[in-house]
Amino acid sequence: MKYVCSSCGSEFLKWSGKCSSCGEWGTLEEVEETLSSSGKHEPVKVANYGELAKYNIKSSSKKDESHISTGYGELDRVLGKGFVHGEVVLLSGEPGVGKSTLLMQVVMKFCKKGRVLYVCGEESPAQLYSRFDRLNNGKDSKYSSNFVVTEDTVVENILALLENEKFDLIVVDSIQSVSSTMSKGYAGSVSQVRLSGSLFTRIAKTKGIPVFIVGQINKGGDIAGPKVLEHIVDCVLYMEGDQYNQYRIVRSMKNRFGSTNEIGVFEMRSNGLEEVGNPSLLFLESESDSSGSAIGAIMQGSRVVFVEVQALVVARESEVGPMRRVANGIKKPRLDMLCAVLSRKGGVFLGDKDVFVNVVGGLNVNDPSIDLAVCAAIKSSVKDVSIPKNKVFFGEVGLTGEIRGMWGVESIVSESKRAGYDELVIGRTKIGESAGIKVKKMIKISSL
Ligand code: TYD
Ligand code: MG
Repeated sequence: MKYVCSSCGSEFLKWSGKCSSCGEWGTLEEVEETLSSSGKHEPVKVANYGELAKYNIKSSSKKDESHISTGYGELDRVLGKGFVHGEVVLLSGEPGVGKSTLLMQVVMKFCKKGRVLYVCGEESPAQLYSRFDRLNNGKDSKYSSNFVVTEDTVVENILALLENEKFDLIVVDSIQSVSSTMSKGYAGSVSQVRLSGSLFTRIAKTKGIPVFIVGQINKGGDIAGPKVLEHIVDCVLYMEGDQYNQYRIVRSMKNRFGSTNEIGVFEMRSNGLEEVGNPSLLFLESESDSSGSAIGAIMQGSRVVFVEVQALVVARESEVGPMRRVANGIKKPRLDMLCAVLSRKGGVFLGDKDVFVNVVGGLNVNDPSIDLAVCAAIKSSVKDVSIPKNKVFFGEVGLTGEIRGMWGVESIVSESKRAGYDELVIGRTKIGESAGIKVKKMIKISSL
């Protein structure tokens, strides 16, 4: 018997009100340790083994290990050329972001090639059908007989079904709605999510069936239930976007079969998600040249994306109360740091001012190369001088006020040229002059 924190996944032998690892209150849940996934001791037998060379994919005649396309280039890019046999993909995101829609679209394409089992624990099959109908524009589909649905949310029953029938893809929507009879607790509790997750993973590995699992996220943005789910699956995808914006970004946080950092961009339409082929200019909105706005270039995987950063700096009305630093689209600690660097090293004193920063278009940027654009926007707001719209910023700002050239600068230069910008401000890099665009190297934040 042990206790697991539903917020951070830490394990304890004794229960307490507060998790001593992440500091959350009331998150420790009792978890039963099962010795094997079948719940009983299995007799000892000699483990299977074989030489590594036997497992060479390229030489093996079966093309089992090759990548299977999802039918959507944007999703394939995030997964790494598609998914492979036996891969377990966890798709998480806030409620209503479009996880079920995306998976249904994938299933509708996959049905032409193979048989799919869709475990609908969140919705009734009738609701599922109405979405199917909507995505199909009311037309009856000829390949729907491969689309098999079950309402059963008991994992053992689903596994028994998989013993009897052959499926080529399994979708579990969602892991919080299924439960196993071998564990105590309601569906969605830490022990149920852990156990159900590992049972589905085991079936994926032993039978070679790819499994897509939907995971709900809690208010903190973590996958609800234990982090351990992230450890056992092969790929963790995160779908983001907000209600007021039609764009949805699928990002990989972990990927055993491809690179992370790649993004796939979709647009939510009235009849489903549509791929956005070239997202580089998607997140630029305002045409006006008012002060407090700067264009930044960031690398998202192998792709360059231009974003507009807006800043508003206002003098504080009174000296009491906390200073406000509001960051939308970048992390708040990053904004605090950039404000401090600007105050001390950039000649822009912000100690008596409130600062608000927003990345237009709903994109969440973790890439530090946006720093220079954030600083430029803040300074532009303070001085009330607008920045020309044909200028792009790219660079990470360090604590001493230095601007570092970042990896990927060659692509930034060529992509900026292609997008029609005239001037690129970057940090210290080895890159030389480039025809067609003015490349300005900035070494210190004070020269901004
Ligand atoms: P859904 O896939 O149910 O979200 P999740 O599974 O992540 O909770 O998506 C629901 C939202 O998507 C809902 O607000 C309606 C919208 N939507 C469209 O705009 N167009 C569509 O074609 C579909 C199916 C949904
Ligand atoms: Mg859903």
